[in-house]
Amino acid sequence: MPHPMGFAPPPPEVMAVTLTVNGVETTLQVAPWTSLLDALRLHLDLTGTKKGCDHGQCGACTVLVDGRRINSCLTLAVMQDGRSVTTIEGLASGDTLHPLQKAFVENDAFQCGYCTPGQICSAAGLLAEGKAKTDDDIRELMSGNLCRCGAYPNIVKAIRQVMGEGGA
Ligand code: FES
Ligand code: FES
Repeated sequence: MPHPMGFAPPPPEVMAVTLTVNGVETTLQVAPWTSLLDALRLHLDLTGTKKGCDHGQCGACTVLVDGRRINSCLTLAVMQDGRSVTTIEGLASGDTLHPLQKAFVENDAFQCGYCTPGQICSAAGLLAEGKAKTDDDIRELMSGNLCRCGAYPNIVKAIRQVMGEGGA
């Protein structure tokens, strides 16, 4: 209901948001302006997801929401209420690495590792999308994930390896 004088009511200081994160349903009390990235890192201690630019430009914060890749710095946690979020911590099955994690290790697809969780989550989204057929497609569809160490050739090799194995 609009205020009779035209003033918007102040936002609540915290709001409840329920997320299923790596298979576990969790309800958080967050300020309405909390990004999904900050909710994961600061409220759930899931620090595998990295904050690079905080402006949607580097891809370090990529996670999967209902299976689709997303820059978690660009969305508010409350906008994802009720959804399933998968972070790098949720990709492995127990002690068994996700095929992409294994391929990144085998192909030496990282140097400092800062971009790597985002690269791997983004690659998981790319494989699920099923659009990449060639190395050029991989490069194009991974172009939102920057690597300051320049590990791009081996990142492409790792993704191609998993595509060749029939995806993940
Ligand atoms: S931290 Fe989200 S895109 Fe850079
Ligand atoms: S491995 Fe260092 S930024 Fe990509």
